[in-house]
Order: sequence, then structure tokens, then C-alpha cells
Amino acid sequence: MDLLKEKIKMNAVVVDEHVLKVDTFLNQKVDIQLMNEIGLHVKDYFEGKNITKVVTIETSGIAPASFIANHLGVELVILKKQTSKVLNEGILAEEVYSFTKGNTYNLCTSSKFFEANETVLLVDDFLANGEAALGASRLLKRLNVGLESIVIIIEKSFQEGRSKLEKAGLPVYSLACIESMCDNKIKFM
Ligand code: G4P
Repeated sequence: MDLLKEKIKMNAVVVDEHVLKVDTFLNQKVDIQLMNEIGLHVKDYFEGKNITKVVTIETSGIAPASFIANHLGVELVILKKQTSKVLNEGILAEEVYSFTKGNTYNLCTSSKFFEANETVLLVDDFLANGEAALGASRLLKRLNVGLESIVIIIEKSFQEGRSKLEKAGLPVYSLACIESMCDNKIKFM
């Protein structure tokens, strides 16, 4: 998606060869017009696939996922990283290890948010090592929810995420794929 790549080129900051800072348009301050364009782009791409819901992972997936859901005219389900102490009806959890943060967390949702014969898009901001997407796809499988595709806003193609997801038979559609971030320069695939 050219507009997104332009935004990354102009506004993202290469922290080191593995980490990209996008807090001025995606992670903290959010460029709403860009999110809207992302929503339209993804809606056009998956038109005719009968998507019934969009699923995302808190926190940074929520902004783009909301616009995608809005343009597709469907509801959004947010997977939580902690079990709710008050709402635990039909809760399912999958353990996820984050290589970037060096911690383990439980990805949680409830069966009550899904109906029979769902076909969903799973949206996340970054694809790094693929663990969050793998954990989310395990949750969806346990709920018998059909996964049309994983939609990633920024894929760091030099990390293992895509190959792990493909090995697991999970389709991935990324809006911007970064080949490398050497010498402060972002090279797209
Ligand atoms: P993985 O799911 O692909 O295995 O990724 P990993 O656990 O390694 O990354 C975990 C967190 O780090 C995620 O945020 C992810 O968005 C973020 N992350 C990974 N690489 C980058 C990067 O280059 N730049 C930035 N800005 N973030 C990165 P999270 O813990 O889910 O945070 P949030 O969604 O609550 O903000």
C-alpha cells in the first residue's frame, strides 16, 4: 500500500536494525486518515469473501482494525492480553511468548463473541516473530472460527513471522513489507 509506505518513509524512526518506531501515526498518535485508507484498501482486497468479523489483538491493532471492520460493515472483537476478573463466561486463553519483549502472556477471548460459521480477518500492527498471530489463530481454531487471512500493517520480513505462519498454513496479507532497516534506511520488499 503506497500511502502507508510513504508514511513509513517520512515518519517512522529506525531505532536499530530490528525495531521501527511508529508512535507518531500508529502506536500512540494515530493518523486517522491513514487508518481510513487502510480500512478502504483492506475492504477492497477482501470484497466478496463474506467476512463476518474482524479480530485484533490489544492495543495497537485496534485502530487499523476498527477502520477495516467499519468499511467491511462488520463487528470487531479485541483479543485481550489478560483474563478479565469480572467477565469470565466461556473464556479461552492461549499462552504467547514475545521475543521482542521477552515475556509470556495469555491471549484471551470468550466464545460468546462468536457465532456459528464465522469467517474472520485477524488484524495486527506488526509481524515480527509471528507468535501473537499464531496464538490468536490457535484461539480461533478452538472456537471453530474460520480464518480468511491474517492482515498485517507492517511486516518485518527479515524476521521469522511470515515463514512460521506460512508453515502453519495460515494466509498472510501485509500492507507494507520491510526487507531491511540497515544504516537508518528502510528498504521495502
Ligand atoms: P510477534 O507477535 O510477531 O512474535 O511479535 P513480538 O512478540 O516479537 O512483538 C511483541 C510486541 O512488540 C507487539 O506489541 C508488537 O507490535 C511489537 N513490535 C514488534 N516489533 C516492533 C517494531 O519494530 N516496532 C514497534 N513499534 N513495535 C514492535 P504489543 O506488545 O502487542 O504492544 P501493543 O500492541 O500493546 O502496543
